[in-house]
Amino acid sequence: MSKVTVVGAGNVGATCADVLAYREIAEEIVLIDIKEGIAEGKALDIFQKAPINQYDSRTVGSTNDYSKTANSDVVVITSGLPRKPGMTRDDLIETNAGIVKSVTENVVKHSPNAIIIVVSNPLDVMTYQAHLTSGFDRNKVIGMAGILDTARYRAFLAEELNISPKEIQAILMGGHGDTMVPLPRYTTVAGIPVTELVSKEKLDAIIERTKFGGGELVKLMGTSAWYAPGSAAAQMVEAILKNQRRVFPVCIKLDGEYGIDDCYLGVPVILGKNGVEKVLELDLNAEERALLETSRGHVKEVMSVLDKLGK
Ligand code: NAI
Ligand code: 2OP
Repeated sequence: MSKVTVVGAGNVGATCADVLAYREIAEEIVLIDIKEGIAEGKALDIFQKAPINQYDSRTVGSTNDYSKTANSDVVVITSGLPRKPGMTRDDLIETNAGIVKSVTENVVKHSPNAIIIVVSNPLDVMTYQAHLTSGFDRNKVIGMAGILDTARYRAFLAEELNISPKEIQAILMGGHGDTMVPLPRYTTVAGIPVTELVSKEKLDAIIERTKFGGGELVKLMGTSAWYAPGSAAAQMVEAILKNQRRVFPVCIKLDGEYGIDDCYLGVPVILGKNGVEKVLELDLNAEERALLETSRGHVKEVMSVLDKLGK
């Protein structure tokens, strides 16, 4: 039986649990939160939707009782504060690092064989925190950001071209945030290079909008997004549980790939039953390498903030 735990029953966690349930990605989904009753309530609500939307997955809620999460195959960590207007992702570091650390300790105790997907921000550094605390192999502690950032970019392109978002294939790299590395060279519209269909000026504007895509939503809603982030995390769970070997941009500790060591960055990977099965190394040009280096420098800076906090 496949079992997935989603830690944090807030906007992103509840959305992820809902997608996992209604798409029958996992047979059992445990939603856990520290706020009394919230996870139980949302798990019950999702299960009461099953007769309407016709699915068999079971959702179970828990207030901080990790025994209910025991032997999960995958654990998605969404616990932590979301970004408020004016806050950068990095402002969240101290609070969220403490939360991710304590959650990861519980996850390791009750699900020692799980694959951990981190969603909490600042994403790359929270993935670092979970990796350090868990002591798991790097392929089993990964972060979700690239699927979301790529989805925003694909959606904007679909809007510009007035075509189905399904037709846009793209990959982005780097840290989650303003220093993400767009790769128009690797963007196609049903196999046609995007540069043949969209002017450089328009493409640059779409890339800029994508970089600040999270902030655009925070400004509109007063808190950060959840539909696309929750669905993106569920898509990673699906690739793992079904051993789909899909190619996604995923945050992982780099061990020499792209000439980078000891840094957590989004890169294209093959995602399957062991988590990251392989990191794909693209032949970046000088401009792309420079952008990746800037992104690496930024993530390293935030990693050093975590190091100073004593992890
Ligand atoms: P939210 O405030 O709606 O939910 C967070 C939940 O975590 C709350 O219900 C809270 O009670 C719970 N929580 C806090 N400490 C906990 C603990 N120790 N154990 C269990 N649960 C705990 O926030 P939202 O919108 O769901 O965002 C969650 C996180 O995801 C934030 O850090 C946000 O910045 C991040 N995020 C990351 C994205 C990405 O692309 N990686 C995209 C969107 C959000
Ligand atoms: C987002 O990109 C805030 O990381 C969050 O929506």
